[in-house]
Amino acid sequence: MRFSSSLGCGLVLLRALAASAGIPSYFQRFPVTRSEINAATVLRELGQRVSSKATLYGPSDSRYPNATARWNNFAIPQIQIVVVAGEESDVSTIVRYCNENSLEFLAINGGHGNGKSLGSFKGVQINLKNLRNISIQDDGKTAWFGGGVYDGEANSYLWDQGYVVTTGSCDCVGMMGAGLGGGHGRLEGPYGMISDNIVQLHVVLGNGQAVVVNETSHSDLLWAMKGAGHNFGIVTSFEMRIYPNDLETWHYHSYIWTGDKLEAIFTALNNLQGNGTTPVNMTTNYGNFAMNTSITDTEPVICWTFAYRGSAKEAEGYLTELNAIEAVYEEYGDIPYPEIASAQQTGVDDFICQDGYTRITATAGLQVYNLTTERNIFDRFTQIIARNPTLAAGGVILHEGYSTEGVTAVASDSSAYPFRDDHHLMLVQIIVPPGNATIEKAAWDWAVEVRAQWNDGQPNRPIDAYVNYANGFEPLQQMYGHEAWRLEKLRNLKAKYDPSNRFRYYNPIISS
Ligand SMILES: Cc1cc2nc3c(=O)[nH]c(=O)nc-3n(C[C@H](O)[C@H](O)[C@H](O)COP(=O)(O)OP(=O)(O)OC[C@H]3O[C@@H](n4cnc5c(N)ncnc54)[C@H](O)[C@@H]3O)c2cc1C
Ligand SMILES: *[C@@H]1O[C@H](CO)[C@@H](O)[C@H](O)[C@H]1NC(C)=O
Ligand SMILES: *[C@@H]1O[C@H](CO)[C@@H](O)[C@H](O)[C@H]1NC(C)=O
Ligand SMILES: *[C@@H]1O[C@H](CO)[C@@H](O)[C@H](O)[C@H]1NC(C)=O
Ligand SMILES: *[C@@H]1O[C@H](CO)[C@@H](O)[C@H](O)[C@H]1NC(C)=O
Ligand SMILES: *[C@@H]1O[C@H](CO)[C@@H](O)[C@H](O)[C@H]1NC(C)=O
Ligand SMILES: *[C@@H]1O[C@H](CO)[C@@H](O)[C@H](O)[C@H]1NC(C)=O
Ligand SMILES: *[C@@H]1O[C@H](CO)[C@@H](O)[C@H](O)[C@H]1NC(C)=O
Ligand SMILES: *[C@@H]1O[C@H](CO)[C@@H](O)[C@H](O)[C@H]1NC(C)=O
Repeated sequence: MRFSSSLGCGLVLLRALAASAGIPSYFQRFPVTRSEINAATVLRELGQRVSSKATLYGPSDSRYPNATARWNNFAIPQIQIVVVAGEESDVSTIVRYCNENSLEFLAINGGHGNGKSLGSFKGVQINLKNLRNISIQDDGKTAWFGGGVYDGEANSYLWDQGYVVTTGSCDCVGMMGAGLGGGHGRLEGPYGMISDNIVQLHVVLGNGQAVVVNETSHSDLLWAMKGAGHNFGIVTSFEMRIYPNDLETWHYHSYIWTGDKLEAIFTALNNLQGNGTTPVNMTTNYGNFAMNTSITDTEPVICWTFAYRGSAKEAEGYLTELNAIEAVYEEYGDIPYPEIASAQQTGVDDFICQDGYTRITATAGLQVYNLTTERNIFDRFTQIIARNPTLAAGGVILHEGYSTEGVTAVASDSSAYPFRDDHHLMLVQIIVPPGNATIEKAAWDWAVEVRAQWNDGQPNRPIDAYVNYANGFEPLQQMYGHEAWRLEKLRNLKAKYDPSNRFRYYNPIISS
């Protein structure tokens, strides 16, 4: 099935492989398809099948730009039709209809997916944004979430009810988009990753069948959904463990330092975090090398922000070595947990969450910071400022550190998430002006170089690329694990649960 390339109008022509023109779809047996089906027909036919709460539209609709906006314009899925599910059962209906008509489908929630494979998608967007209910169970131990819930709303809602739940750290990110790949976030030290807290999932498989996935029902699929889930189904709702909250505030402390402090900073960071021994309540720290021309325009600055689950007094006790390093800017405070995201510049209105940029990325997983490496990466950035200021202006070299007790407490083979030994998560992100191949090439060269520097700085470790940060050019082992049995198990589960490989647009285990 190919769509015509004239995407500008709503009535896109869809050409099918088989010829049986004119026969209504309900008389046809899958996989026979009509030879021609246009967007108007899809909107009409599918519109009759989905619930009254669902909405459908094509590119000419005023809602289309918002529904198809991407965090990264590097690999943009081509969306012919948007179907916003109104009820969970709509997802099954849409998948079945797409299969009957040889249309590709792709679930969308936050639109942050980054992998290059997304760029090869053409078809129907299954928009999950209205599947947003959160419902705390009577025993207060778990809550059900709609498949379209995003991090910020989960954190705010549960906090207001006296609970917390594991989410990603950026408020804008889809909880399942992150969770299906593992799901790093501020509570992973205390409670594990998002995927570690999944109790059960309602999943629509590639054939449209809706199944319950838990310890006793399709438990093999539960294993796969926790780390490789984007390959296996669409989660329409999920049950997660939640935890009672007894804190009024968390403490945060953010710093900006100049580059001459680099060795002192990374020494202090290694002292604080050891080799996977970060104090459990020193939950999250992010640091980056980036330009801040209000401080200097000849080299990057080093920004770092810490989030502590507890009092200022306890937190500052852990930060004494960092406090002794003279900063050009500092900010700290004690605020409710849902406000921590904005304090660390990861709120929905913060720059990191904004859509519509072309971003070149590369990722790595580390255990301990190598001071030589960090110095080399910093100095290289300084050189690039002199040689290519446009490129340098878009560069952010991000370091993420978490407390990891809850992550390493879970057995590595108990889920598809393969990298429990990676204590720190690295991401190079370079925003480039659109449509300039020269600068894009320079950005790739820089991103790949930084990644190599990180990996060369830990010579005896494997090269890992957290699947949710991967750019999609990495080999499968780097995204899904180096042990041969992992990939074999995932391939066998693909054959069982998605034999037609309908889910192959997000860093796929099997590409075509
Ligand atoms: C600003 C930013 C911050 C981030 N922060 C974190 C973080 O703190 N922790 C972390 O682990 N990762 C983080 N990530 C990575 C993030 O996990 C991935 O980008 C994730 O894929 C985003 O999910 P989404 O719903 O926002 O994006 P989408 O592009 O809508 O979805 C990404 C993929 O997930 C699939 N998907 C989404 N929802 C479902 C569902 N309900 N069922 C089945 N498939 C689904 C989609 O089909 C798509 O292939 C961040 C990314 C960005 C850009
Ligand atoms: C779409 O619009 C809604 C409501 O205005 C907004 O919250 C959301 O961030 C927008 N989504 C995108 C992808 O721009
Ligand atoms: C979810 O739905 C239930 C009723 O089914 C309602 O009580 C609850 O408030 C809803 N939650 C949210 C966050 O909207
Ligand atoms: C798993 O799902 C099945 C089917 O819905 C259900 O009967 C069973 O109670 C569930 N198990 C758990 C632990 O929730
Ligand atoms: C960190 O610990 C791991 C074992 O978990 C070990 O293999 C590695 O060498 C340690 N790294 C450093 C730099 O000490
Ligand atoms: C971490 O914080 C929790 C919640 O406030 C508290 O109960 C626990 O004692 C703290 N743990 C440590 C080691 O400080
Ligand atoms: C740049 O530094 C100034 C302090 O000099 C600070 O107020 C500002 O927030 C910084 N900008 C960014 C984007 O971090
Ligand atoms: C592309 O960007 C470079 C800066 O790296 C600039 O010199 C060049 O003029 C740009 N080319 C175009 C076509 O805009
Ligand atoms: C740090 O990185 C360098 C390469 O840049 C490497 O030679 C050295 O062994 C690394 N140090 C440690 C402790 O791994």
